[in-house]
Amino acid sequence: MPLPSTLHCAVVGNPIAHSRSPEIHHAFAKQFGLRVDYQRMLADPNDFADHVRAFFAQGGKGLNITVPFKETAFALATHHSPSAQLAGAANTLWLENGQLHACNTDGIGLVNDLTRLGFAPANQRILLIGAGGAAKGVLLPLLEAGAAHIRVINRSSLKAHALVEHIALHQPNYAARLDAGDLDTTNGVWDIIINATSSSLDQKNPLNQPIECSQHSLAYDMMYGAEPSIFMKDCVTYGATQCADGLGMLVGQAAQSFFIWHGLQPDTEPVLHDLRQRL
Ligand code: ATR
Repeated sequence: MPLPSTLHCAVVGNPIAHSRSPEIHHAFAKQFGLRVDYQRMLADPNDFADHVRAFFAQGGKGLNITVPFKETAFALATHHSPSAQLAGAANTLWLENGQLHACNTDGIGLVNDLTRLGFAPANQRILLIGAGGAAKGVLLPLLEAGAAHIRVINRSSLKAHALVEHIALHQPNYAARLDAGDLDTTNGVWDIIINATSSSLDQKNPLNQPIECSQHSLAYDMMYGAEPSIFMKDCVTYGATQCADGLGMLVGQAAQSFFIWHGLQPDTEPVLHDLRQRL
């Protein structure tokens, strides 16, 4: 019997050497005995589109896209998922009937991780800090998952208002469940507090003051590392009962890309556990 052919996948970015995606996808593939060869691809802004075209012309199955090409990837595709459409950015590309499709799987990765942690977004009051690419990618999936209310706060409050107004315009049914403000607009009691800023890269907490956490509350930092971030530690002192970093979201977004390309839903738990040991 002939061996099944290898499925070629890759992640494109700049820089790319740090990416954990190959090990995650190879671990998922192992669960199904699937032959997947998943590589890292370094691109420049002037050759990114050529890399994408060449990859699919050679029969590539799926591409993940990371910083700084998520917007360019979105623009290259002709078909977009609603979350990619809202974010104007894509982290997952594939060909279907010769057409380039784009999805943003960050949001579903986050929703699944919150659910795993016992904080399914349905009926939760969520404080989302940040209004850049990371926040844009998760806002619609959080609303679709049934969040009771989401407040987007950002250092530049204009960007937070613009994001919320953009959703209200395109998804008016969600408008009543959204508001926006600056980093001081934290009044209210919050069940889930999400840091979608890049502040943890500078070892900073984006919040200027303590916030009120509900009795069963989670502080979630989209960044991940061997140690809890300042944001996570501070939120525990504000009263958050649980905190988590974004490693589970990383594995979750990969799982959704894997599902899109291969039609198989991997078990994220053992892969997340292994990755955590090796941080
Ligand atoms: P990403 O794709 O990671 O979201 P981005 O689009 O550059 O990157 O957005 C970075 C986000 O982190 C923004 O919300 C930014 O706030 P501004 O829009 O006001 O710049 C936020 N950010 C970065 N460093 C921060 C800090 N030290 N404190 C608070 N917010 C910070």
